[in-house]
Amino acid sequence: MKTRITELFGIRHPIIQGGMHYVGFAELAAAVSDAGGLGIITGLTQKTPELLAREIARCRDMTDQPFGVNLTFLPAFTAPPYPEYIAAIREGGVKIVETAGRSPEQYMPALKAANIKVIHKCTSVRHSLKAESIGCDAVSVDGFECGGHPGEDDVPNMILLPRAADELKIPFVASGGMADARSLVAALAMGAEGINMGTRFIATKEAPVHDNVKRAIVAATELDTRLIMRTLRNTERVMRNKAVDHLIAIEREKGSSLKIDDIIEEVAGVYPKVMVNGDLDAGAWSCGMVVGLINDVPSVKELIDRIMADADRLIRGRLAALV
Ligand SMILES: Cc1cc2nc3c(=O)[nH]c(=O)nc-3n(C[C@H](O)[C@H](O)[C@H](O)COP(=O)(O)O)c2cc1C
Repeated sequence: MKTRITELFGIRHPIIQGGMHYVGFAELAAAVSDAGGLGIITGLTQKTPELLAREIARCRDMTDQPFGVNLTFLPAFTAPPYPEYIAAIREGGVKIVETAGRSPEQYMPALKAANIKVIHKCTSVRHSLKAESIGCDAVSVDGFECGGHPGEDDVPNMILLPRAADELKIPFVASGGMADARSLVAALAMGAEGINMGTRFIATKEAPVHDNVKRAIVAATELDTRLIMRTLRNTERVMRNKAVDHLIAIEREKGSSLKIDDIIEEVAGVYPKVMVNGDLDAGAWSCGMVVGLINDVPSVKELIDRIMADADRLIRGRLAALV
């Protein structure tokens, strides 16, 4: 399938694997890129720019296809050394960066000087237009159903995607709630040029996370995620578990006086415990409502091939027969 996104990134299928903390290692990114999608290494999971350089080199050993690096600009007490991370990306010869969180405006000159294509993840039309205006090549439009940080507007993709299509000139992919060919075809119908998936890619053979996480994703339904940190304006959609129930009880008790310190045990340093050790109740970890659509743990290639084959059948069969 050819779309503006496959052309922009030089990939065979319009399917991107979004950056995911402690999931987006070289193994997953290479598997996605090898299968014809766009794999993405999560930059900040690598604790230093030197470690990121090593991860990029590892990924390059595993695939000769294009892959990207995610750079997340989230509120942090001490900002990571972003210019050094960008240098590692540039020197590693990576030509695609997925930015997320705050606007990448400050870093656009450095990224563009290195001939890097930038896809910025946005949860609203106004942020998408801003990304377009500062020279981003594409956006990933992340609806309210997404795993991770859906923003504060709560607009689901059935509304957000056509709104984005009405306003944007640069291409965009649909992110949040995407799992299968139905997602892809619906996203294309709404004006997107492809899809970005997070949660779905965790439940694959190559995802380098503990099997407990994959089992939990397969077992969960669409009712099993919760929104946390609303009052801090840092809303995150996470898998429900004991720690999240406790966190929500604290949030209810503190109301608008909640401070990050009140819930720090449930949110800080959680990812290695969950993703590496398989301790599912260690704290809050991102997960999309799309868990309700995930019922197996295929290889990345099986997943992507299935999506593309089913999309073909859906478009040529069911949809064509309707008109
Ligand atoms: C476990 C997990 C960790 C994530 N970590 C990041 C991250 O570090 N940076 C980022 O930009 N997005 C992160 N995301 C968001 C994904 O890149 C993607 O936008 C989102 O998962 C899409 O929604 P979906 O889960 O419904 O597919 C994370 C998502 C999950 C599920």
